[in-house]
Amino acid sequence: MRTLTGITPSGTLHIGNYFGAMRPAIDAQVRGDCYYFIADYHSMTALTDAAARRAFTQGIALDWLACGLDPKTSVFWRQSDIPEVCELTWLIGSLTPMGLLERAHSYKDKTAKGISPNFGLFAYPVLMAADILLFDTNLVPVGKDQKQHLEMTRDIAIKYNETYGETFVVPEAVIREDVAVIPGLDGQKMSKSYGNTVEIFGDEKALRKKIMGIKMDSRTPAEPKPDADQNLAIQLLKLVAPADVALDYENRLRAGGLGYGDLKKALFEHYWNYFAAARTRRAELAANLDHVDAILREGAERARVVADAVMKRARLACGLR
Ligand code: ADP
Ligand code: TRP
Repeated sequence: MRTLTGITPSGTLHIGNYFGAMRPAIDAQVRGDCYYFIADYHSMTALTDAAARRAFTQGIALDWLACGLDPKTSVFWRQSDIPEVCELTWLIGSLTPMGLLERAHSYKDKTAKGISPNFGLFAYPVLMAADILLFDTNLVPVGKDQKQHLEMTRDIAIKYNETYGETFVVPEAVIREDVAVIPGLDGQKMSKSYGNTVEIFGDEKALRKKIMGIKMDSRTPAEPKPDADQNLAIQLLKLVAPADVALDYENRLRAGGLGYGDLKKALFEHYWNYFAAARTRRAELAANLDHVDAILREGAERARVVADAVMKRARLACGLR
C-alpha cells in the first residue's frame, strides 16, 4: 500500500500542518512505501518571489527531516525535479470537466476573498491529481480541507480509466478525524492566511508572546467553567501534553481555580518541550545543507523509477505512443 502526500512551500510550517499533515505521514513510515514531496509547483499560484520560494522549499525540507521523515525508509523529493507531473496534468486535465473545477472549494474561497484567479489556481486540483496518480498511490493522508481534492482525483482517475482503459490506481484519502482541524490562536482554523499560527520552529520569545496573547473571556479564575473542553488553550494543550496532564488542566479549569495566565504558561512549556528534539535535529541539518540537497536528489531518482513507468502507461493508453 503506497502512501503519498505533498506540502506546499508557501510559508513557515505551523502546528496545524504538523498535526494535520506531517504527523500522520511520519507515523505511516512504519508501514513502508511512503512517498513525500515538496510541492514547489503548487506554490507558484500564490507566490511570485523566487528567493522566498527557494527559502521555503529548503525550510520545509529541514522541517520534515527534523520532525522524523526518514529518507532511507521513505522517498522524499522536490516536485519540480520530476517535471513529467506537468505533462500528466495536461493528459488528465483534458478529461476534467470545467464544472468539476468550478465547484472546488479552494478556488471559490480564494476568489471570494478577492484573490485574482489565474489559470494555475483554477487548474490546481488537476496538478494535485497528477501528483497522486503519477506514483500509483493508494493512500493520501491530508487534512479535512483537502477532502474534495481527493474526491476530484478519484473522479479524474476513474474517468481516464473508463476512457482509455485501466491506467491509474484510484487513491483514497486518509483523514484523521481526531486532529481534523487544528484551531489557530483566534479559534478559527489555523492557517498562515489567517495570521493565527503557532509555528513548529521559531524564536522562543516571539512564540511565547503569541501563546500568552491568546484572548480568553473575562470570567475570574475562581469561576467554574463548564465549557472547559471548548477552551482554545485546552484544545491545543491536548495536542502537545500527555493525555493525563491535559485532562488534569481541563478538570481544574472546569472546577474553577485555574487562571488563564497559568494555563497559557503551561501550554507554552508543553509546546516548547514537544518540539525540543526536533529543534536540535533541525539545527544540525541546517549546518549541512549539501547533505539535505543530496537527500532530495536521491529521492527524486527513486521517485522517477515509478513516475517513468506510470507516464509510459498513460501515454500508451491515450495514443500518444
Ligand atoms: P495553510 O492553511 O496554513 O495555508 P496549507 O493549506 O499549506 O496550510 O496546508 C498544508 C497541509 O496541512 C494540508 O494537508 C492541510 O490539510 C494541513 N493543515 C493546514 N492547516 C491545518 C489545520 N489547521 N488543521 C489540520 N490540518 C491542517
Ligand atoms: N494541495 C495540498 C495542500 O495544500 C498539497 C499537495 C499538493 C498535496 N499535491 C498533493 C497533498 C498531493 C497530497 C497529495 O495541502
